[in-house]
Amino acid sequence: MCTFAVCVFLGILLFTPHQCLECPLGCECFAVTRTVKCVSKDLLTVPQSVPGYTKSVIITGNNIHQISPDSFTEMENVTNIILSNNRITEMESHSFSVLINLRFLDLSGNQLALIHPEALSIPGSPLQELNLSRSLYNFTAVTDLTTALRWGGLRGLLRLDLSGNHLALLPPGMFSHLPNLHQLFLTNNSLVTIYSGTFSGLNHLQVLDLTHNAFKTFGADSLQELEMLGNIRILLGNNPFTCTCEIRDFVIWQNESRAQLDVDAVRCATPGVVSNAQLRGLSDQAIGCVVPVQAEVADLTLQTSYVFLGLVLGCVGIVFLLVLYLNRKGMKKWIIEMRDACRDVLEGYHYRYEIDSDPRLGHIPADNSGSRAQGHLRLALSQQLPTDTCIVQVPTDTQHVKQMTTSPPSVNL
Ligand SMILES: *[C@@H]1O[C@H](CO)[C@@H](O)[C@H](O)[C@H]1NC(C)=O
Ligand SMILES: *[C@@H]1O[C@H](CO)[C@@H](O)[C@H](O)[C@H]1NC(C)=O
Ligand SMILES: *[C@@H]1O[C@H](CO)[C@@H](O)[C@H](O)[C@H]1NC(C)=O
Ligand SMILES: *[C@@H]1O[C@H](CO)[C@@H](O)[C@H](O)[C@H]1NC(C)=O
Ligand SMILES: *[C@@H]1O[C@H](CO)[C@@H](O)[C@H](O)[C@H]1NC(C)=O
Repeated sequence: MCTFAVCVFLGILLFTPHQCLECPLGCECFAVTRTVKCVSKDLLTVPQSVPGYTKSVIITGNNIHQISPDSFTEMENVTNIILSNNRITEMESHSFSVLINLRFLDLSGNQLALIHPEALSIPGSPLQELNLSRSLYNFTAVTDLTTALRWGGLRGLLRLDLSGNHLALLPPGMFSHLPNLHQLFLTNNSLVTIYSGTFSGLNHLQVLDLTHNAFKTFGADSLQELEMLGNIRILLGNNPFTCTCEIRDFVIWQNESRAQLDVDAVRCATPGVVSNAQLRGLSDQAIGCVVPVQAEVADLTLQTSYVFLGLVLGCVGIVFLLVLYLNRKGMKKWIIEMRDACRDVLEGYHYRYEIDSDPRLGHIPADNSGSRAQGHLRLALSQQLPTDTCIVQVPTDTQHVKQMTTSPPSVNL
């Protein structure tokens, strides 16, 4: 109403009412700043026919669900478009193609679920800044956007804001077709790691904002990817860093890196002892890396192998004893046989000895084990055999001796 009153007043005053009537219904037009504003008017589409002088269009807080190639006719001279908080869900092919002078596009606070691969294509690649903060509905939209960034030919893009999109991972090479990007904002997402190749192609990056994410540490691959960006500003504050020994590489990297880091804001979230401590300059002791990891592991391996060896030997011993026990009858038999064999040998030996040394028995042949000699055996054995021979007990029964001496042929010498 107010705008209308002003228009009527000006129209009457200057006799140029057509200037005011050009302003779309529900919008405010500012000739001095060359701006058209349509704020919270429940608009369902982008208003058509803005004044010819317009450079900036601000349409926020409406109910525009869809952006199509027809949305921006006759806006070829517009350079800035702000479409934040409009519940936009779909961007069709070549939605912004007529905006051949568009430098700044803000789509933040929408719910983009469908993004056509060529939605961002504009002849001549005029776009320099794209704000997609809190605008991607789900991960499908993220992959759609990746394709749109690739097909869009956004060679002139300098700033890209993807903050607050619940991003858990970045598709590899997502930014590889943005060769002139200077500033990349990925703050307030859910990123936990940086894969190799994530930032490939960003040869002119100057600022990378990774604050307010879910990083607990950075592994060797992630650090290499960050280091590859060179002497740029990297913001890593407000992440829930876990300051255990695993974060050692990251601590060392902070000292060595060419990048300019927000070291003041990079602080431990856990464990309690180092909670909120600044990460850079944390000692090995503070993060629990005192014992050199290699030696500790080697020591443990050695101990484990000793225990294992002990167990194996124990098992072998038990099996051996078990075999002996099960075979005890056979063993006993074997021992007795051995003993008897031994005895027989000695008997034979001694018998011959006695025959050889007794002149009265000279006529008896050596291989004749006659019973007459046996009477002397006992005495002779105990006197003349070496003490370490296998037979301790000499049988008294001469008949038995004779029998044994002759019976097993195997033990005859
Ligand atoms: C854009 O600007 C040019 C030159 O300033 C002008 O001739 C043309 O009419 C403008 N386009 C629109 C749609 O107002
Ligand atoms: C993008 O938009 C959000 C919300 O509208 C704003 O907070 C943020 O600063 C913008 N990003 C840039 C890089 O200007
Ligand atoms: C994202 O949302 C769209 C539209 O609701 C749906 O078709 C798609 O399956 C969703 N994707 C995921 C990964 O949830
Ligand atoms: C992060 O994003 C959520 C929504 O995605 C928002 O509510 C919150 O305010 C944001 N936080 C910061 C620090 O920007
Ligand atoms: C990192 O540098 C700080 C001082 O600049 C030093 O106290 C600390 O020992 C260094 N840490 C490592 C791991 O080199």
